[in-house]
Amino acid sequence: MPELIEDDLIHCKYSEKKGLPGTFRKGSGICRGCDRLLCDLRIAPKGEATSPRVRKANAKKFCERFRIRELYHITSWRNVGSIIKHGLLSPKLVELKDIAYDSIADQEIREMRGRKIVDSRVTLYVDDFVPLFFAMRTPMLYKIMCTERQQSEIVYICIDPMILGETGVRFSDGNVARHETRMFYKLEDLEKLDWDTIRSSSWNRFDFAKKNEARRVKSAEVLVPYKVDRHRIHRIVAHNKDIGNALKLAFPRLRIPIEVNPDFYF
Ligand SMILES: NC(=O)c1ccc[n+]([C@@H]2O[C@H](COP(=O)([O-])OP(=O)(O)OC[C@H]3O[C@@H](n4cnc5c(N)ncnc54)[C@H](O)[C@@H]3O)[C@@H](O)[C@H]2O)c1
Repeated sequence: MPELIEDDLIHCKYSEKKGLPGTFRKGSGICRGCDRLLCDLRIAPKGEATSPRVRKANAKKFCERFRIRELYHITSWRNVGSIIKHGLLSPKLVELKDIAYDSIADQEIREMRGRKIVDSRVTLYVDDFVPLFFAMRTPMLYKIMCTERQQSEIVYICIDPMILGETGVRFSDGNVARHETRMFYKLEDLEKLDWDTIRSSSWNRFDFAKKNEARRVKSAEVLVPYKVDRHRIHRIVAHNKDIGNALKLAFPRLRIPIEVNPDFYF
């Protein structure tokens, strides 16, 4: 586990064990000596007192309390092969590793998020994290459906919610791109999220301000530092049989179930 040793220096025991330089500069984004790129992201947020074991037990308790059964990442079905191979990577890591991908992101929002700092101690930006939603059928999917893309191109990568217990994972009470959104890392703070709105099937409200707020809240996120390992993927959900069968044909030996479920879509 890398640790902050001075204001701007990070020590990485992983590199040291491999006989490589164990210290690198904060904010460089990459530990040069470490083959796990961006390992500094695994640093616990300031004030995170609990041990990984306690956090894991807490994650189980809070996922049960708030009925969090899965977390969701939506992506183009064209990215599935590479996600199975490399794991689900943060936007920055996808670019650093020079992995080709089919983007479904709104470029303007993406740039705005890329500039937003999550942890100033190690200069972590939103782009350093894999974004997951608590909810299905989010405003992001709705927007995709209203643009030139078809929602049938989108698949859900469903993630084990116990990932909330991993070091460095944060979550928000709404869309991270919005300035009023708060970020949390203590699992107790899951209580501060508006679960009725997150779970409700619609964010439509008569009053415009209320609708805008419900849209923000419905997009509450979990941010996982740099990578979601493949073993955390519960299942992949596709829009229709054509996409589902094409994926099954392309990956016949895949142990991760591929399902078709129109309820995940508008
Ligand atoms: N996609 C989501 O489920 C989700 C959840 C919460 C918030 N957001 C926010 O919405 C905006 C768009 O997000 P985005 O996820 O489209 O990000 P993006 O297009 O900015 O960058 C990453 C893209 O690479 C894909 N990818 C990840 N690992 C890959 C791999 N190994 N091989 C190939 N492709 C891989 C991702 O699925 C994603 O499409 C962002 O601002 C994001 O933070 C997205």
